[in-house]
Amino acid sequence: MTDGKAGDARAKDAKSLRSARWFAPDDLRSFGHRSRAMQMGYAPEEWAGKPVIAILNTWSDAQPCHMHFKSRVEDVKRGILQAGGFPMELPALSLSESFLKPTTMLYRNLLAMDAEELLRGHPVDGVVLMGGCDKTTPALLLGAISAGLPTIYLPAGPMLRGNWKGKVLGSGSDAWKFWDERRAGKISDADWVDVEAGIARSYGTCMTMGTAATMMAMAEALGMALPGASSIPAADANHIRMASECGRRIVDMVWEDLTPARILSREAFLNAITVAMAVGCSTNAIIHLIALARRAGQDIGLDDFERASRTVPVIANIRPSGDTYLMEDFFYAGGLPGLLERIRKYLHLDCLTVTGRTIGDNIKGAEVYNDDVIRSLDDPIYKEGALAVLKGNLAPDGCVIKPSACAPRFLKHTGPALVFDDYPSMKAVIDRDDLDVTEDTVLILRNAGPQGGPGMPEWGMLPIPAKLVKQGVRDMVRISDARMSGTSYGACILHVAPESYIGGPLALVRTGDLIALDVDKRTIDMKVPADELERRRAAWRQPGPRYERGYGWMFTRHIKQADEGCDFDFLETGFGAPVSEPSIY
Ligand code: FES
Repeated sequence: MTDGKAGDARAKDAKSLRSARWFAPDDLRSFGHRSRAMQMGYAPEEWAGKPVIAILNTWSDAQPCHMHFKSRVEDVKRGILQAGGFPMELPALSLSESFLKPTTMLYRNLLAMDAEELLRGHPVDGVVLMGGCDKTTPALLLGAISAGLPTIYLPAGPMLRGNWKGKVLGSGSDAWKFWDERRAGKISDADWVDVEAGIARSYGTCMTMGTAATMMAMAEALGMALPGASSIPAADANHIRMASECGRRIVDMVWEDLTPARILSREAFLNAITVAMAVGCSTNAIIHLIALARRAGQDIGLDDFERASRTVPVIANIRPSGDTYLMEDFFYAGGLPGLLERIRKYLHLDCLTVTGRTIGDNIKGAEVYNDDVIRSLDDPIYKEGALAVLKGNLAPDGCVIKPSACAPRFLKHTGPALVFDDYPSMKAVIDRDDLDVTEDTVLILRNAGPQGGPGMPEWGMLPIPAKLVKQGVRDMVRISDARMSGTSYGACILHVAPESYIGGPLALVRTGDLIALDVDKRTIDMKVPADELERRRAAWRQPGPRYERGYGWMFTRHIKQADEGCDFDFLETGFGAPVSEPSIY
């Protein structure tokens, strides 16, 4: 960790603080603000003339990955007070990946709006974002970008390695693996219960390179977190020290007026994409980074991922792309600064970060302590980037595969489709012994996209049919407009755009059609004549509405497609003016 000092001259004085507009005027409204602060036991000298720092805390009783935020927030407050600021903790939606149905992706934008409006409405000058579990990172950053206040991101950090009978267990990845072993009769029910008890043994996020670890790394790569912060295990004392340093640093950032607009350049996003490829990122990174970039007014799209994918190798040997190590090992091996040092030739080193220094400055002196965990560029675990974008008549606006985490023989494959119209109909038959399927079959799930799911549930790693599991099959080609967990693996082709629910070509596939994919050529096609596709299109009817009221109703009307980042159309306005507080009367 660095000392987090910037050394910039002050760009603000106490009178120009945003919070002063609440607390300083000699009028009736400000009388109310001051008297109610004193109602909480604060004396005026505790806030007057000081930056008020919001802490958006995504702790809740339903969020196991953020259990430690209940106490960690006190460490943030300690840092804020030490630096001469005034902390104001504001609870935000906790978006637990573990408990929330049907999918947290349905609520990413709701937390983004929650964050933006919490900042807009309260007398705050800067913000510490406390997130980590999958969607919380992009959601908090989306809101903070639109709010425009100085912002620092505090990652929850990964949980400790899982453990069962002397074996190391990885979040998600080993759940899928041992579930298949149980379905194949290879482990007992008692073993399964023991795996259940050993796979999540401390607070913190999933410790594979899933969506949580990926997006925490993205926050750091973008320059929005302290150097090294994203790799620190949640249960490590370094994490506590990092939390108090976030508190100290954000106070200086307010005085320096170091806002996201100064940090989130196009080059910062290109850096994040480069890092995504090198760490063996979750497929979800594509959707979230595009959404963040568009909020930040930067023109980033699938083509930028595709370019990086061709040049940047996967060098983080972390599951599921790697086969051995977990995030705890990554931290001991040098963490993200060590990895950034290894890929520095691909980075824009002059990008500004929350330290007030460039990313190049931040990684000076960073080292790698284990060359098997963080590989050299000459010895990658996969010679290209983690993700590949495919296009063709099945996905005119693109789809995504993670070639580093699938059986190589499926990187070029042609097979007959077996189509399921929705998740329940797939689940009802997938384990039947008379299912007409071989390991060459291409399983297709539709109506699982942004509008059709709705919310793009993580259904994309369709289960291997039980009859094939018993034969030893552990991977096959699966295509959907859904997402998959970042801890998942296999030849899963995801995010097909446009989605089937709005009439994308996935809606036209029929069981028995031949599907051909070639990852090297980046193509995916159904071998169906164009006139036949036209006939099918003329006969297609949209499935019924998913929601008739409430948030879901709003979601399905305003959500954008996967290749556009799944933001709401009415939020995608780039950087707004400096955040404006509501009229006081
Ligand atoms: Fe929270 Fe995986 S369930 S990070």
